[in-house]
Amino acid sequence: MAKITKLQHSEWSSRFAFILAATGSAVGLGNIWKFPYIAGENGGGAFVLVYLLCVAIIGIPIMIAETMLGRRGRQSPINTMSTLADEAKAHKNWHYVGWMGIIAGFLILSYYSVIAGWVLSYIFKAFMGSFSGGNVETIGALFTELMASPLQQIVWHTVFLGATLLIVARGVQGGLEKSVRFLMPTLFVLLILLVGYAMTTGYYQQGFDFLFKPDFNQINSDVILVAMGHAFFTLGLGMGAIMVYGSYLPKNISIAKTTLIVAGADTIIALLAGLAIFPLVFANGLETVAGPGLIFQTLPLAFGNMMGGWLFGLLFFILLFFAALSSSISLIEPAIAFLIENKNINRTKACIITGLMIWVLGVIVALSFNVWSDVSLFGKGIFDLVDYLTVNLMLPIGGLCIAIFAGWIMKAKDSEHELEMEKPQFYQLWKVLISYVAPFALIIVLLKGIGVIG
Ligand code: PFF
Repeated sequence: MAKITKLQHSEWSSRFAFILAATGSAVGLGNIWKFPYIAGENGGGAFVLVYLLCVAIIGIPIMIAETMLGRRGRQSPINTMSTLADEAKAHKNWHYVGWMGIIAGFLILSYYSVIAGWVLSYIFKAFMGSFSGGNVETIGALFTELMASPLQQIVWHTVFLGATLLIVARGVQGGLEKSVRFLMPTLFVLLILLVGYAMTTGYYQQGFDFLFKPDFNQINSDVILVAMGHAFFTLGLGMGAIMVYGSYLPKNISIAKTTLIVAGADTIIALLAGLAIFPLVFANGLETVAGPGLIFQTLPLAFGNMMGGWLFGLLFFILLFFAALSSSISLIEPAIAFLIENKNINRTKACIITGLMIWVLGVIVALSFNVWSDVSLFGKGIFDLVDYLTVNLMLPIGGLCIAIFAGWIMKAKDSEHELEMEKPQFYQLWKVLISYVAPFALIIVLLKGIGVIG
């Protein structure tokens, strides 16, 4: 067993609490804001198919591995990786996986908080009845106006980040668990209602076909890289978030079963969001390639024109805000756990320090949608660049390291003991996926995606 002198963090109170928190981390803007718009940008069905494959054969095995490493190491990702490397008599450098995760979390949260700020501003708009009777022009104008205003975006980003830090400062038991319990089921019901509304538009079939009838000509290395990156992003993998959550997981809980539940819920929510949105896109003659504004330009059209739309709209954006919040707390938790363990700083101070840094980065992202919209590096704007670097590169590279560590460095008897799967065949299957299939697929997709191999 790994040598751990003291357990500095508390534990989840039950398996259900862990499922809630892990689902909270997984389900967020990635499912409802990002999945539809990148599916739209990358050809619909072909992208969805590759994404589903990535979740099944790469995402789930890595999620099991990352949670397992966390539970065995029981500390922040950096310390967990060095403890486990010690245990396996491997090189200390493995702890850099933890470092990369912390940096990726920082960068992702900087834009995540800005987009969540858009959601907050839409709660306000919904409350004011701004969607009522709206058409493509009026709803589009609401979004354009928000994009053009650095001040509004910065204010909402500040509010969102502040809320995240308040929850994180209260600690594992107090803050993280409670926030998810009622939100996910309600969000699920609301999405079903929205899919119901989409069915009344007369364009449901077209939306459905767009998402589920793949045009194989659309699949290329870029699409595969984006789909794979998104599988990591949406499950919250490759950066130590689920590793930290795993480190708060009591010993007697089945990691594999829990992972399947969380990944299943996450995928269903994303697909429902797609089914709610694309019929609206076609019914209103909008572009599938609208980009990050897609949900903000489509869903308010539904709320503005359906019965009870004021209430549903308000509720929807409030729930989306909470879904984003339960993800953002997991994005920042690895850094907080590290500061508490290694720098002897208390939770509140750790939150203030990290919060300030993320806030500044977030302001830069907010400005990239207006004042700095012309600034580009490597042919990408600031937001796109941060997104590409973190989601398409850092998370899959983190995932690759986790797969290699769990499959090749950690002793099989240790991983078998830690996972305690019901049947030996299940363990064998996982072991093959994590040792061969996932690393091989990840290396090929990464090399092709960045153009190293043709
Ligand atoms: N999974 C979250 C979402 O889909 O919105 C985002 C996220 C959370 C990414 C935690 C990465 C992470 F570690």
